[in-house]
Amino acid sequence: MGKVAVGAAVVCAAAAVAVTALVVRHRMRSAECWARAAAVLRELEEKCATPVEKLWEVADAMTKEMHAGLESEDVSKLKMIISYVDKLPTGDERGLFYALDLGGTNFRVLRVQLGGREGRVVRQEAKEVSIPHDLMVGGSDELFDFIASALVKFVDSEGEDFHLHSGRQRELGFTFSFPVKQTSVASGTLIKWTKGFNIDGMVGEDVVSELNKALQRQGLGMQVAALVNDTVGTLAGGRYDDNDVVAAVILGTGTNAAYVERADAIKKWKGPLPVSGEIVINMEWGNFSSSHLPMTEYDNALDVESLNPGDQIFEKLISGMYLGEIVRRVLLRLAMQTALFGDNVPPQLKIPFVLRTPVMSAMHHDTSADLKVVGAKLKEFLGISSTSLKARKVVVQICDIVAKRGARLAAAGIVGILKKLGREGSGMRRTVIAMDGGLYEHYTVFRECLHGALNEMLGDEASSSVVVNLTNDGSGLGASLLAASHSRYLEQS
Ligand SMILES: *[C@@H]1O[C@H](CO)[C@@H](O)[C@H](O)[C@H]1NC(C)=O
Ligand SMILES: *[C@@H]1O[C@H](CO)[C@@H](O)[C@H](O)[C@H]1NC(C)=O
Ligand SMILES: *[C@@H]1O[C@H](CO)[C@@H](O)[C@H](O)[C@H]1NC(C)=O
Repeated sequence: MGKVAVGAAVVCAAAAVAVTALVVRHRMRSAECWARAAAVLRELEEKCATPVEKLWEVADAMTKEMHAGLESEDVSKLKMIISYVDKLPTGDERGLFYALDLGGTNFRVLRVQLGGREGRVVRQEAKEVSIPHDLMVGGSDELFDFIASALVKFVDSEGEDFHLHSGRQRELGFTFSFPVKQTSVASGTLIKWTKGFNIDGMVGEDVVSELNKALQRQGLGMQVAALVNDTVGTLAGGRYDDNDVVAAVILGTGTNAAYVERADAIKKWKGPLPVSGEIVINMEWGNFSSSHLPMTEYDNALDVESLNPGDQIFEKLISGMYLGEIVRRVLLRLAMQTALFGDNVPPQLKIPFVLRTPVMSAMHHDTSADLKVVGAKLKEFLGISSTSLKARKVVVQICDIVAKRGARLAAAGIVGILKKLGREGSGMRRTVIAMDGGLYEHYTVFRECLHGALNEMLGDEASSSVVVNLTNDGSGLGASLLAASHSRYLEQS
């Protein structure tokens, strides 16, 4: 062997030793990382735990806040807003009714021909219209005239299947998904615009009279018969289908609940007791909070960094807007402290709300042996190109912990309502909760966990009389049904 060759061999040997050392060090580091990751996960699981006793504490706290909110204004986390809806549809409604659903960049108009108990919904038609951006930040007359003129066109296209009683004006149920202070079933003043709307001179005005004026300006003989929150509309739609519906819960991007309360139990109600003896309460339950809620450092940081710190705590734990974001925060921690996704922290993982709940749901439901959906989603939405199976399993586990906690807490909220109604024990009559919202509809594990937790809390006997069921009322049919049940022509007919 020549000198050069010997030299080369020595260098190679040295390099081999160095490589071995590196591999060993890497393995050790890697083992350490997994141990740390396991510890972070274990802590998350502990902090998110919702054993049935804990769920009952949450349910009891919910019931207590409901009482407080019915007692007087502005002392409770739950506003318990009186909707003025004291006549839910019975199924006997007849005639032609319209609905308008305004709450985002699109609005929907709908008409329905109701045929009474036998005919039910004889025919239904809807149309969606998108609002030009400049109208979302302009004057109120311009916006409402645009909506009214869309209604004019829609009414013009009314076919033969729809008939208005002679001598009547068309009546409209108006779902207006912005904060309003309701003053009667068909009036309410706007508190503030949200969701990208910024309209001049509407705050403090009655939104119904603004719309009625615009309808008049457009020469349309139509009047608003009911101003409703979407949750109240869902309750009405649910009740129309099933007489045993007592509450509605929305679990979508946001969350809310409404239920039917005995008017004499609403201490802050100063008006005359309605004939039905009942009034629908819009709970605004997203703002519920309690020391019994299992909160983690991730939730606290999310809240502090949010636009409304301290508010909407329940919503921040259970709704579609936030579940993916909680998961992202845990993943970021793992990426930084345990190199879950390699030596560099994936930059996209640092972007708030980049991991949306539908993506979380897709990863959570991945049943492939190598979790290829998880791998693909991590790549597509977080720019993380290659992940070990072990890392993907961690991702699924985090989704599981966060989704289950949310679903179980939502169930506890529902039990809180049942308890307020005295319907949580055994031997109860059939009790139905109308559900709506994409989170409940599309996130199967979430839905199943919610049902499972209800069962666990109520026990087999009581839970056999409680039905939680999807009512597809995103359409706003409920608002048109409320226009029917609150029609000003009712007494005359
Ligand atoms: C929400 O609850 C907090 C207390 O947790 C309260 O300070 C706040 O006023 C409530 N917000 C609304 C809109 O009711
Ligand atoms: C009604 O619904 C929307 C959500 O769709 C919400 O933002 C609003 O604050 C609700 N409540 C009231 C009292 O208007
Ligand atoms: C649940 O809702 C579906 C349709 O939305 C209906 O067909 C079904 O009968 C309901 N189940 C119960 C138990 O009410």
